[in-house]
Amino acid sequence: MPSARLPGPASAQEPLADPNRFAQELFTGLPKRYDLLEAILSLGQNERWRREMVDHVVSATPTRVLDVATGTAGVALQLEERTPAHIVGVDLTEAMLGRGRENVARAHAASRVQLVAGRAEQLPFPDAGFDALTFTYLLRYVDEPAATLVELARVLKPGAPIASLEFHVPPSRFWRAWWWLYTRLVLPAAGGLLAGRSWFRVGRFLGPNISGHYRRHPLAATVAMWRDAGIVDVEFRLMSLGGGLVMWGRKGG
Ligand SMILES: C[S@@+](CC[C@H](N)C(=O)[O-])C[C@H]1O[C@@H](n2cnc3c(N)ncnc32)[C@H](O)[C@@H]1O
Repeated sequence: MPSARLPGPASAQEPLADPNRFAQELFTGLPKRYDLLEAILSLGQNERWRREMVDHVVSATPTRVLDVATGTAGVALQLEERTPAHIVGVDLTEAMLGRGRENVARAHAASRVQLVAGRAEQLPFPDAGFDALTFTYLLRYVDEPAATLVELARVLKPGAPIASLEFHVPPSRFWRAWWWLYTRLVLPAAGGLLAGRSWFRVGRFLGPNISGHYRRHPLAATVAMWRDAGIVDVEFRLMSLGGGLVMWGRKGG
């Protein structure tokens, strides 16, 4: 859980449990420009990273997929394009879901993509109801990543694929130095210039939050957490010199 609190606009939705309030406040101010800004500020890498993650679930030709932390539905829509499945996207921030619903309607995908409010830590679905699951940029926002992984695995059928996308810290010292400059200086400045205060705050928060997350949960520990949650055949790929991390496996049993 990030320790800093952002002064931000009050949430328009019902207050959630404390562990979720930080993420909800952070994302409530972002949806209007989220899709454009995430593409610009990730230097065009996010779409490529999403494709790599989605590759690991489409190969199983699922019929019912859950996309957790779906936000504005970018991953859910890619799943809709690339599978014949019914997709359920879940997210705790109503403002992100609102923009997601507009994106789904614009893509004429509402018959196969349904977006619902909910917390990853306590999914509003019965056991083993999905035959694939994706999640993006989630574990940095939850108090207990290990317990959250157990909850994600709970809603999967045995053998079903699960894949995630997250930022990462480049392992090479050389690229880490450039990454540090980018996240600590360029990201807040560019976010602020392009989209104002809320994106400046996000830009300032993101780099230290990513570094802190991997200090607490290094890559090897993250792989172990997946295995402890009952996920087998866990593999990962570092993307874009290590700035992105795609991880995948399948529910054991
Ligand atoms: C960076 S956005 C990613 C959105 C989208 N998946 C994408 O790739 O663009 C992270 C999302 O995680 C959601 N989120 C954070 N904590 C969550 C939780 N505990 N349960 C469900 N969603 C959560 C936020 O509301 C936000 O929409």
